[in-house]
Amino acid sequence: MPMRMRRLRRTEALRRMVRETRLDPAQFIWPLFVRSGTGVRAPIGSMPGVSQTSVDEMLRDAEKAVAAQIGGILLFGIPDTKDATGSSAWDPQGPVPAAVRAVKREFPHLVVVTDVCMCEYTDHGHCGLLTPSGEVDNDATLELLSREALAHAEAGADIVAPSDMMDLRIGHMRRALDMAGFTQTPIMSYAAKYASAFYGPFREAAESTPAFGDRRSYQMDPANGREALREVKLDVEEGADILMVKPAGAYLDIISAVKRETQMPLAAYQVSGEYSMIKAAAERGWIDGDRAMMESLVAIARAGADMTITYFALEAAAALRNR
Ligand code: PBG
Repeated sequence: MPMRMRRLRRTEALRRMVRETRLDPAQFIWPLFVRSGTGVRAPIGSMPGVSQTSVDEMLRDAEKAVAAQIGGILLFGIPDTKDATGSSAWDPQGPVPAAVRAVKREFPHLVVVTDVCMCEYTDHGHCGLLTPSGEVDNDATLELLSREALAHAEAGADIVAPSDMMDLRIGHMRRALDMAGFTQTPIMSYAAKYASAFYGPFREAAESTPAFGDRRSYQMDPANGREALREVKLDVEEGADILMVKPAGAYLDIISAVKRETQMPLAAYQVSGEYSMIKAAAERGWIDGDRAMMESLVAIARAGADMTITYFALEAAAALRNR
């Protein structure tokens, strides 16, 4: 008998019934950029609709996240001072710990994830300590990252998410958290994080552009797929609770491979450039922004991501509600 694929595409009701992938606001994690001060909401030029905010303003966003029933928020800090060792990264009065305390006080049920990295806190913008010759010193950085993760956990973070790509950081951080009594704080590892041009707008948002060189000696080569499976395997062995692939859209094959090869909860990060490209093209009327947003998110979920970190979280949740 001839198979006619169009039979099940005939009406929206039929299409809806046989749909294989469904989006739910609970799977979205919304990144927010926090700085000191009060009443601050500074729009980021390269990311329409995204701002750096002070803690009080961030709470308004957290409230929206709760109302939209989004899964969680991911906090990035923009400190007042930067130095060679990024010492403000573990300051308990820094923007991220302050924001975590405020959100957990106001919205105790909202999942708060914190990004753990040095690049926002170092004056040179690299993700770790530098050796005298200007290389990123892997093992000396581990202690600093663990200190930062601990400061976030002490403030009440539900999940810490190291994004630095140093070797052995997950094991180091797990031990540091456990020794301090934070055995119940999960680690979401940026396990397969690529040295990507799609981070461009984020570096304006987080003020973390490297002062020299690039991140290719620690982030992965976009050409490598098998290496991603080795990276995630190591992070699982070191004690990661959730794995992440980043960026998402250009790395759907990696998401799908990690999903197939591990039993771990899997997150994907739809990064700043992916967001801004859709926004920019939509602003010019070249694509339908809402449809491109939903199509990009459904593709990431279809590839195998259980959670998606996305600047579209609030908009996408609204689109799902109004459907
Ligand atoms: C920090 C970090 C970056 C992103 C998340 N955490 C930037 C980078 O590695 O340069 C990128 C997020 C985005 O582009 O949206 N290491």
